[in-house]
Amino acid sequence: MTNVMYLISALCFIGALRGLASAQTSRLGNWIAIFGMLIAIVGVCIKAGRNDFALLFGTIGAGAAIGNIIALRVSMVSLPQMVAGFHSLVGLSAVLVACAVFCSPHSFGILENGNICISGLVEMGLGVAIGAITFTGSLIAFLKLQGLYKGHNISRAFNFAFGSGVICLLIYFIYAKSLIAFVLLACASMVLGATLVIPIGGADMPVVVSLLNSYSGWAASGIGFTLHNDLLIITGALVGASGAILSYIMCKGMNRSLLDVIFSTSFGGGATKSQNVVSNFHQGMPEDIACMLASAQSVIIVPGYGMATSKAQHALKELGDTLKKRGVSVRYAIHPVAGRMPGHMNVLLAEADVPYDEVFELDEINGEFSSCDVAYVIGANDITNPAAKTDPGSPIYGMPILEVSRAKAVVFLKRSMGVGYAGVDNSLFYAENTIMLLGDAKKNTEEVVRAL
Ligand code: TAP
Repeated sequence: MTNVMYLISALCFIGALRGLASAQTSRLGNWIAIFGMLIAIVGVCIKAGRNDFALLFGTIGAGAAIGNIIALRVSMVSLPQMVAGFHSLVGLSAVLVACAVFCSPHSFGILENGNICISGLVEMGLGVAIGAITFTGSLIAFLKLQGLYKGHNISRAFNFAFGSGVICLLIYFIYAKSLIAFVLLACASMVLGATLVIPIGGADMPVVVSLLNSYSGWAASGIGFTLHNDLLIITGALVGASGAILSYIMCKGMNRSLLDVIFSTSFGGGATKSQNVVSNFHQGMPEDIACMLASAQSVIIVPGYGMATSKAQHALKELGDTLKKRGVSVRYAIHPVAGRMPGHMNVLLAEADVPYDEVFELDEINGEFSSCDVAYVIGANDITNPAAKTDPGSPIYGMPILEVSRAKAVVFLKRSMGVGYAGVDNSLFYAENTIMLLGDAKKNTEEVVRAL
């Protein structure tokens, strides 16, 4: 009975991942995941023969209430740090479960001739080490994303030496089977988690969070083997694999390697001012932009991080609707790493009820810019920067970009001539066919709609 429930639950989690892969089905995906989790909890209760439901569901209810309050209050811009904070709890729970198993192996039925078997110790040791790294690594990621901590330089050599020390402690734990070795392993892994994440640059944090997500999955899977719990093994593997794939996709979108992300120290996150001030640029007023848009036949809107911070998505939707009423074709172009987390722009546009069939991925829309009259770039910078194609010395060199410069006219909505997250000047701001509309993106888009 329990195994059947575990199987249904695992299928639900796979279905949920499938649902979450597109904006249209993501709500359904969430509901499937909730249903799967409910079945899993009931299955665990049946297997454990528990009847103290008041304690169990009271605790789960309290956790769910706290999670709900946090999730409902958090703004879209702060989602990455919320995810990082939650991951730290996954890591901590892996450590605590392993601790419970180690201190009371008979309760978990993992004894062989009165001792914990070698494979159990290996799984437990790996679970503790990865869980502890995830715990502190995610906490540091949270502090950095929240702007509470800027980070320090820690050399690769130090992390390499410390990492080797943790592996030695893991071997020692398996050999000694002592509580002291367990505690030493957990503490050293926690320090390693922190020292690994402290030197990583701000723009790479979302990749780190996704990587830590993957670690937490593998930690859970390791503990699942120890507990002989098939569902934990499957679920942990799903989280581990999907986190790893997501990290890979993000790195590909930024044209960086995973090793580069983990070991480089300074990509993005700091610079806010253009280093290379060029005074020749065309500045427009909302009325000028309204005129351009009104006489256009085709407009492609390119949203970026600034749209999220200014919460301009609803004004943008109104602009799209107004243009469509005037017979203008309106499409939205989404770069895979626009904003600060995967799917950031898709979520915001979906929240504003932008029709899904008007939203296009980079590969689908790039060929369309040459036949478009106006590219309306709202709060985006790096994802349009030609330096990614032309300047081999640029930190974003090789990153695929939305080729807005091919449009007949380009409008940039941003507050200043400053740089984006990668800290690189954008030559497009000074191009002949570019008009800068400086100021808050939401306010200016509302002005454009009024003028239209
Ligand atoms: P950015 O290059 O960071 O540019 C955003 C622009 O928005 C800034 O230049 C800023 O200029 C402007 N802005 C900020 N607040 C604004 C407001 N209230 N009104 C108007 N404009 C505002 O963003 P992007 O083009 O979306 O590129 C994303 C960057 O993040 C890439 O470098 C990418 O590699 C990195 N990254 C993304 C991810 C994921 S998964 N999405 C993960 C890691 C790193 P002003 O200050 O002049 O206003």
